[in-house]
Amino acid sequence: MSSCSFSLDFSKLPQHVAIIMDGNGRWAKKHGLPRIYGHKVGAETAKKIIEKTYELNIPYLTLFAFSKENWGRPKEEVEGIWELFRIYLQKERPFLLEKGIRLKVIGDRKDLSEDLRNLIAEVEEETKHNSRLNLCLALSYGGRDEILKAVKEIAQKAKQGLLDPEKIDEEVFRKHLYTQDIPDPDLLIRTSGEERLSNFLLFQTAYTELYFTPVYWPEFNEEEYLKALYSYQQRERRFGKVYEF
Ligand code: FPP
Repeated sequence: MSSCSFSLDFSKLPQHVAIIMDGNGRWAKKHGLPRIYGHKVGAETAKKIIEKTYELNIPYLTLFAFSKENWGRPKEEVEGIWELFRIYLQKERPFLLEKGIRLKVIGDRKDLSEDLRNLIAEVEEETKHNSRLNLCLALSYGGRDEILKAVKEIAQKAKQGLLDPEKIDEEVFRKHLYTQDIPDPDLLIRTSGEERLSNFLLFQTAYTELYFTPVYWPEFNEEEYLKALYSYQQRERRFGKVYEF
């Protein structure tokens, strides 16, 4: 139960929430615990936020779980995080099926182990007809990397005469992004006090509302989530146009 002193307008919720789950390491340090323990608690927070998103009927949730840059962390931490993802996905498989949640992974899959790649492919396949909540996990994801991948594919098609360069518009470009079948995020939340995008969904966040909170990810909870949604509802979205009375 939350003790919020504000009331949400359930008819004005964002359709797509994206989250940069930051601060697991600092949370662990603050409590004198190993960093991997912060990630374990972070995974529990992720489950709670997925459940709340489902309950609120928000149809798209994207979680930035591992960036291209995260590979540069100490080997034990990187291995520990991937082991955590594998266990988490295996454990939550029945939950996704039971609730009607569709899983989609965005990012550079060739960086992942074969085991995990296969597991992801299986879960994506078995949940592909689900639509109640589209859960998108960004794994080995980088926004610039995604844009460059799209540019390369488009250039190849143009070179082969399959695509007229004059016809390259936003719609064509979007079809070459990992997020081709996902709408742009309406709200992006970043925890832990950092106020930047860190290479997350660079193309897709052009008109996204940004919300930053100092709370570390393992401490982010239902009340903090509702606060972020409430803040979103106070914003006036103009998409570059003038205010309409
Ligand atoms: C961010 O905190 C966390 C990561 C980069 C690791 C991966 C995220 C999780 C394990 C959360 C669970 C998600 C799922 C879907 C299971 P940080 O390590 O960058 O924290 P710091 O900036 O304080 O060091």
